[in-house]
Amino acid sequence: MKISIVLGTRPEIIKFSPIIRECERLGLDYFILHTGQHYSYSMDRVFFEQLELPDAKYNLEVGSGTHAEQTGKMLMGIERTIQSEMPDVVLVQGDTNTTLAGALAATKLGIEVGHVEAGLRSYDRSMPEEINRVLADHCCDLLFAPTEKCRQILLHEGIPEDKIFVTGNTIVDAVYQNLEISRKRGNVLNHLGINSDEYFLATVHRQENVDDEKRFRSIIRGLEIVEDEFEVPIVYPIHPRAEKQLKVFNIEVNGLRLIPPVDYLSFLQLESNARLVFTDSGGVQEETCILGIPCVTLRYNTERPETLEVGANTLAGTDPYEILKKADHMLNGKNSWSNPFGDGKAGKRIIQILREKFE
Ligand code: UD1
Ligand code: UDP
Repeated sequence: MKISIVLGTRPEIIKFSPIIRECERLGLDYFILHTGQHYSYSMDRVFFEQLELPDAKYNLEVGSGTHAEQTGKMLMGIERTIQSEMPDVVLVQGDTNTTLAGALAATKLGIEVGHVEAGLRSYDRSMPEEINRVLADHCCDLLFAPTEKCRQILLHEGIPEDKIFVTGNTIVDAVYQNLEISRKRGNVLNHLGINSDEYFLATVHRQENVDDEKRFRSIIRGLEIVEDEFEVPIVYPIHPRAEKQLKVFNIEVNGLRLIPPVDYLSFLQLESNARLVFTDSGGVQEETCILGIPCVTLRYNTERPETLEVGANTLAGTDPYEILKKADHMLNGKNSWSNPFGDGKAGKRIIQILREKFE
């Protein structure tokens, strides 16, 4: 069996890491095809180095662009590479342009494709991620659903039962594999001059939030009000898209501790020691839920409703006073719940399913 792992962005590298480690452990025939969607050191290379992942065999160096430009270049490059390598199965993960391009290019070559993190839905078609995940699910052959809820969503969309496997989410594997190591490396809090449980953490990068001036200003205002009201510093490792948009809109930020994006072990440390987390990230909603840290999501919907159901997360949208209200609510709520995303063995399960089918 030959496996091609197609990835291109920060969350894909992190969420594929347990699968890559399992391929290495078993000595499987596989290779990594990197589209180059993310390319800055802090969004890409740092994760390969820190998680000790082998280099990608191919990097298409597609870089940034409009959705069509970026996806189009990826489709051509992935097709060319897959045609020359002819793997038995291609794996894609999540909901990025890389995910869609990998699924579409491979399936049209008649190669079976597995979608890791299948069956998530926000039901908000204005998000590029929603289009990507729906299309990827509907052209893939093997759907690795993190939860039973995701499986039900796929079944309701008419996807045959025998294509769907509930495996858990590989983010649980990644957190479990790296949390201990991150705890031993206790220096990011010192470095920032903050103490455990005495700061809030924020990440905001989604296109629908940061490319919309009114919404981005409103979120920043909300975080500033929260910081003033609770007298707790907010640390915000800023994604390059958000950093660019702050400049484009000339938004002045007062008080918030803006820092460059951090490596995974540092981010796990920041998350697991935070009193509260504000985010519009999918992965961060999951990780906070796994780590037992309350989360306020700066969106009006989520494709991770399991986090809301267990009480780990709440939707605040982008209004400053709603953000304050929801922060207060989460700070006064419970912070113990059971993790709905699996037992940390999703990567092993996915590889086992592939071996049964292709070996
Ligand atoms: C992409 C995904 C999003 C995911 C995010 C993870 C799509 C449609 N979106 O969004 O779902 O949550 O990755 O982080 O695939 N940039 C850099 N360096 C980089 C990468 C990007 O400076 O390494 C800047 C560029 O200015 C670029 C902008 O960020 O134009 C946006 O990058 P892009 O890959 O288009 O989308 P993300 O916002 O990263
Ligand atoms: N992350 C990181 N450093 C940071 C911010 C986030 O390592 O400075 C990690 C985080 O732990 C999570 C992943 O990046 O695993 C989430 O990626 P992102 O928010 O970019 O994308 P999304 O999950 O929204 O698609």
